[in-house]
Amino acid sequence: MSGINSSKLIQWFNQVKRDLPWRKTKEPYAIWVSEVMLQQTQVITVIPYYLRFMKRFPDLFALAEAEQEEVLELWRGLGYYSRARRLWEGARYVVQMTEGRMPENYDALLTIKGVGEYTAAAIASIAYEERVPVMDGNVKRVLSRILRWEEDVEKARSRRFFLEYLKEVIPGDCPGDFNQGMMELGATVCTPKNPRCEQCPLQEDCESFALGDPQVYPVKKSKEKPTEAFRPTLILLHRGQVLLKKRPTTGLLANLWEFPGEEMMIPSLEKFREGKEWYGLYKNQISDPTYDEIVKELLSRNPSVKGPLVHTFSHRRWQMVWVVLDLDDVIDKSSEVRAGKDSQLKEDGLCWMDVKELDRIALPVAFQKIWTKLQER
Ligand code: ADE
Repeated sequence: MSGINSSKLIQWFNQVKRDLPWRKTKEPYAIWVSEVMLQQTQVITVIPYYLRFMKRFPDLFALAEAEQEEVLELWRGLGYYSRARRLWEGARYVVQMTEGRMPENYDALLTIKGVGEYTAAAIASIAYEERVPVMDGNVKRVLSRILRWEEDVEKARSRRFFLEYLKEVIPGDCPGDFNQGMMELGATVCTPKNPRCEQCPLQEDCESFALGDPQVYPVKKSKEKPTEAFRPTLILLHRGQVLLKKRPTTGLLANLWEFPGEEMMIPSLEKFREGKEWYGLYKNQISDPTYDEIVKELLSRNPSVKGPLVHTFSHRRWQMVWVVLDLDDVIDKSSEVRAGKDSQLKEDGLCWMDVKELDRIALPVAFQKIWTKLQER
């Protein structure tokens, strides 16, 4: 396996590093604040916020004593307010637990509420020169190019491999500069588009430079588009109840209730729109013959087909259309059909549910949308 020439990287970092306010200090609290701010925000944006923050809260005690509101106020414009809240809570935690003495190594830093692996590693390596690697999106990109890493960089396996690799190559001397150098390299040279390989201190170590394809990396699994499907749905009403069916125990919306219907390919949409095919769908879903004649009668009256209403799952996009069949429109009091004669329903996983109970059960959002639309009638 090729290695990273860490001394070249550190030398490069010391030559080109930008003059940033948090680089003038080794004070762990100051490093903490800067790293939290830098996590989702660019350096240029962070600078004035960092200066203002440190002026108002120069140490842990100042931050811990502040009202949360004031901290959030100073954060306004940086976004991701949960970061500010966690930083504030972390500061209060340290003041409470250790009278304000910052934990002095990676493992101890991790015990602070709200401090994760990234922040703990950054503070430990920069403030305490502990030999622990830091990994952010920039570092992942740099490594994926150096190693010509063919797997999705967001996978846990990639993360584990990169961390193990970094643990090998991070030097005992100046691990903080090594980590910052890797991040700086990703931010300024090994950029997502048009990397400036001619300026790179790790050019000789880089497999993708050697083979001329750095732009191919990092490999990210493309987010697949959800498959388009069509979902005709039957809403059967009877004496204040609605007919529900239990979904299969595996797959999409496993084990949840639904209004009876079937997922189909889009081309069948038109037939359903024209009012055809509904009886076939009904019989596929409900083998019990009790309501066959009533349903036929209701369908012969050309009930309007509602929708489509769109619902997107992670891998599927449904266009839902539905008809409402109110059995009470046909069944009169003298009718033969009575509740209790439809015992076969249970075998199909069907049941009549009081409409007032609907919001008590876990009806998937897709069907809640239909139900809500129906109430608007
Ligand atoms: N991005 C986040 N933290 C950084 C640091 N300490 N140096 C360079 N880039 C960074």
